[in-house]
Amino acid sequence: MLQIRKSDKLPKVNYSPHPRFGTIFAPHLLRINFSAENLDDLVAEIIPFAREPFAPSTIALHYGQSVFEGLKVYRQQDGSVGAFRADLHATRFMKSASRMAMPVIGEKVFLDCLREYMNFESESVPFEPDHSLYIRPLQIGRDEIVKVGRSKNYTFYIMSSIAGSYFQGGASKAARVFVNRKFVRAFPGGLGEIKTAANYAASLGPQFYAEQFKCDQVLYLDAIRHEFIDELGGMNFFMVKNGELVTPPLTGTILNGVTRKSILEIAPSLNLRTREEPISLNSLIADINSGKVTETFACGTAAVIHSIGELVVQDDSDGPTKTVKLPTENPIGSRLLDVLKKTQRGFVKGPGNWIFR
Ligand SMILES: Cc1ncc(COP(=O)(O)O)c(C=O)c1O
Repeated sequence: MLQIRKSDKLPKVNYSPHPRFGTIFAPHLLRINFSAENLDDLVAEIIPFAREPFAPSTIALHYGQSVFEGLKVYRQQDGSVGAFRADLHATRFMKSASRMAMPVIGEKVFLDCLREYMNFESESVPFEPDHSLYIRPLQIGRDEIVKVGRSKNYTFYIMSSIAGSYFQGGASKAARVFVNRKFVRAFPGGLGEIKTAANYAASLGPQFYAEQFKCDQVLYLDAIRHEFIDELGGMNFFMVKNGELVTPPLTGTILNGVTRKSILEIAPSLNLRTREEPISLNSLIADINSGKVTETFACGTAAVIHSIGELVVQDDSDGPTKTVKLPTENPIGSRLLDVLKKTQRGFVKGPGNWIFR
């Protein structure tokens, strides 16, 4: 059974529009401390967001026993608050926990905690257009031991932050994306399809390198042939080729993105055909140059849909780069973004029950 205890409510935070992503936290945190041996009597506390004491020997800090989610709560057309496709995030969280040998709290506990937290924190959900409350559920191994192995004790958290535009240049500035065949983020049998710290750890070096070329994100290729597009460091990839939407298939090395899935499900209502098939980097570049590929975009909860304006390709060396430019107009990406944004805010109903209240 899940018990939920709540502290007194704190006032909401002040912020200027479009704060830097992930920096302005809502005043409350939900926390469950639990042991792998007892998942039956969980006590969730909603408490002030504050620093937590961690022993330097905590397992999560050394061996990355840490899984998380990222979802958004939107101010709805009628003034209420609703989370976008929370059920899919709950399912993915359980899959991540299971893969990392962690106890699985279950989708019901996850969703019950989210509902309580969302209602308690509802005043923090922004009213401004293009803003939302970004929810970060997290589960970490808490045992204090410097020896590789799964933890016996865990903490589950839900925290949140005010989200405006993800990219610093704003939502309308197309992204500059870096590609180098040497960079590998995930590989068959690895962790690419779950949300765990290790995937993001693997991307830190390439991302830092790409920033020296003024790029916003890295586009990763498959780890075996270094030729087929996987995804970006924190987003899935789409291209528009001959008027059809094409995205790499779910082969276990990329995240089954909720935004990716939603785009594929919305597309038929816009008379767009979709294909999930491998996309080779060489053919992508040739198709951009010949005009067959007219748009490429990144998609994810944080960035929603963000057009890619340039690919900066360094091939497999640390030598010179070549820049492949895409058309500046993105009619299909823009239409999809418009419908997705209206669906997230309850102006348009999605093909299913997509808003969790
Ligand atoms: C590596 C990676 N790929 C794709 C995505 C997009 O997934 P979603 O649309 O579920 O946010 C994310 C964001 O969570 C991500 O971190």
